This record gives sequence, C-alpha cells and structure tokens, in this order.
Amino acid sequence: MGEKKKAAYQRILLKLSGEALLGKQSTGVDPDVANYIADEIGSLADLKIQIGIVIGGGNIFRGVQAGARGMERTTADYMGMLATVINSLALQSALEAKGLATRVQSSIEMREIAEPFIQRKALRHLEKGRIVIFAGGTGNPYFSTDTAASLRAMEIRADVILKATKVDGVYSADPVLDHTAVMFKKISYIDVLTKNLKVMDSTAISLCRDNRLPLVVFNLQKKGNIRGVVCGKKIGTYVGE
Ligand code: GTP
Repeated sequence: MGEKKKAAYQRILLKLSGEALLGKQSTGVDPDVANYIADEIGSLADLKIQIGIVIGGGNIFRGVQAGARGMERTTADYMGMLATVINSLALQSALEAKGLATRVQSSIEMREIAEPFIQRKALRHLEKGRIVIFAGGTGNPYFSTDTAASLRAMEIRADVILKATKVDGVYSADPVLDHTAVMFKKISYIDVLTKNLKVMDSTAISLCRDNRLPLVVFNLQKKGNIRGVVCGKKIGTYVGE
C-alpha cells in the first residue's frame, strides 16, 4: 500500500520543544538538528497544507526552573519568551535555506527583528503558503509555550495541533523510567487531565478540550513521521474527545 497522497489536515499548528534543537549540545541550537527539522517540514511542501509553528525555548532558558530556584517568576518567564524568539529565528533561517517561505510573528513587539503578532496578517501569510512561526509565547508570564501553541492554533483555526516529542506518543507512565508503560493510540482530553499524563500542561489541554481541537503527539526524531501524521497514518497518540 502506497502512502496516502492527500493530507488529512489542511491547516496545522506544529509545536516543537526548544530541546528538540539541542541535538548533542548541552545548550543552544545545533545547526544539523535545525536542518533535519527543516527537511521534515519541507517534506510536507507538495501536500500544500498551511503550517503554523510554535517553538519553546528550553534549550536556552527554562523560566519555570529559574523561577523555582529563586529568580522572580515574571522576569524568568520573560527571559524564556525571549529564548523562543531566538529559536524562531534559527528555525526561520533553516527553513528559508530550504527555499520555504516563512514569516516570524512575535507576541512581544520587537519590530526590528520580527513582525508583531496580528491574527489577520498571520491568516493571510498562511493563505499565501508561508509558514508562520509564532515567537514570544503568549506574551504573558505564567503561561507555557504549549499554551501559546493552543492559543495560536485556536486563533488561526488550525485543524489540529501536532506536538513533536522525542518519544513515540503518550504513555501510561514515563517509558524511560517504567518498562511496563504502554503507549495510548487514542486518549481523551479528560483522561490526560485526570491521569495527569505529561502531554501538555493543563491550561493548554483545557483550551484544546474547550474548543474541541484535536492533538497528535508523535516522535519527530523518526524520519517521515510528520508526513505520516499529516497524511492520516496512525502514528503517535491522538488526543480528542
Ligand atoms: P503581504 O502583505 O502578503 O505581501 O505580506 P508580506 O509579509 O510579504 O509583506 P510586508 O510588506 O508586510 O512584509 C515584507 C517583509 O517585511 C516580510 O519579510 C515581513 O516578515 C517583514 N516585516 C513586515 N512587518 C515587519 C515588522 O514589523 N518588523 C519586521 N522586522 N519585519 C517586518
């Protein structure tokens, strides 16, 4: 059986973790990894779907951890938001090196570096086939980039959030620590919340649930996975009602 050519989703919001850019480094952006991610995203080009991206900042600065270690939480969160801007620019550069049209929009205004986030402008970019990278998180402290992904997905009316991880999907327990952990093919939002499964934080999941936005958690490190998910193959874990 050949690959289904038609995409199952027309507009996606891809959530990448900042750690995804680390590669073998302990901090910063590994250009080889950025290049790999750009290739994977580039593999969707012929499907003509519309792509929004939110990337975290954990490879550079983790606001929550710094907050826990005594730094003023709001300041730490803003530093984390700035880290997402750096990652967004790195990703833009990698995508444009592949000839893909992109725009970066930031929720915190810094016009010399990126466009401000304007929902209608973002929609126009998407309709023109440009990949829009949403930088700066939600622009507010006390929110995660997962929540930013849910929020932007709602605003651009995405069909799905694709949450890229380094494991294959959502497990009953941490598969690294617990060998009896099993992966769910499908799970409900409410089970994710009540079982406290670490998919996204509860604010992000609640936002998806309230707006019936499905989520697919999948492993980006397996080549071809993202294309498989977009083409409707049963890869990873589907989170829905
Ligand atoms: P269309 O209106 O669809 O033609 O979109 P466009 O993005 O091509 O047009 P626009 O003239 O708005 O932008 C041209 C370039 O300038 C793009 O690369 C934008 O990302 C960039 N750009 C637009 N506004 C800003 C801004 O406020 N700050 C920065 N740094 N770049 C901007």
